[in-house]
Amino acid sequence: MTAPVRRVNVLDLAAAKRDRRPITMVTAYDWPTGRLVDGAGIDCVLVGDSVAMVVAGRSSTIPATLEQMIYHGEIVARAASRALVVVDLPFPLQHLGIRTAVESCARLLKETGCQAVKLEGTAGQADVIAGIAAAGIPVMGHVGLRPQAVHQLGGYRMQRNLEQLMNDARAAADAGAFAVLLECIPQEAARQITQAIGVPTIGIGAGPHCDGQVLVLHDLVGLSLDHVPKFVRAYADAKGVIGDGLERWRKDVVDGEFPGPRETLG
Ligand code: KIV
Repeated sequence: MTAPVRRVNVLDLAAAKRDRRPITMVTAYDWPTGRLVDGAGIDCVLVGDSVAMVVAGRSSTIPATLEQMIYHGEIVARAASRALVVVDLPFPLQHLGIRTAVESCARLLKETGCQAVKLEGTAGQADVIAGIAAAGIPVMGHVGLRPQAVHQLGGYRMQRNLEQLMNDARAAADAGAFAVLLECIPQEAARQITQAIGVPTIGIGAGPHCDGQVLVLHDLVGLSLDHVPKFVRAYADAKGVIGDGLERWRKDVVDGEFPGPRETLG
């Protein structure tokens, strides 16, 4: 009899920081991608609000709704048996007061079966993080480039104000976040924050000194159809593989080669 798989939890991530073992996190949005990310031994699966851009083709993450995050989160949480599943709180629920934020995060936890939530914010959202953590919901902060604030930040650009970055990350950690995601900040800022706070940092476009790294799955496997950020390294050419398969199938149908005897049932 095979023993049930033990799921990664927030204490494992704390231990990983202590032991200097790099933490891995990748996004997933559906059953096959959830299964694949989990099966690759990645520590955390993030059901990011990037679903609005990557899957739905929107130009920002702002349109993502709580219902959509619940829909995708529930599928991925069922697909992943080992990884810690984190679901994004969509805009603007972390800005509508502690009660709304706790209610929304509780819905994510109850209705998806995920183990944690993530929210974008500055030090101004520390009380919200504290309220969510006090409700027993593991919460990850997200500072630096906050895509939900893209219009206020003047675009998807690197955030360089070290004092503000340090302040935001410290506030999230002090409020009870179990980890803080650092997006698009200088590597020196990420190094100093990683040293200064007691919880793991997980970076994207934040250089090598974070406790862990996260990427959007479609960027990582070469399936992104539009702009790919400079900080991405593609480890596969999924776009090429899928495109090639589609072209060859179309040609076989047109040439009368598909279906052949092997694919014909009777
Ligand atoms: O929504 C998302 O995919 C994110 C990225 C930073 C990984 O938050």
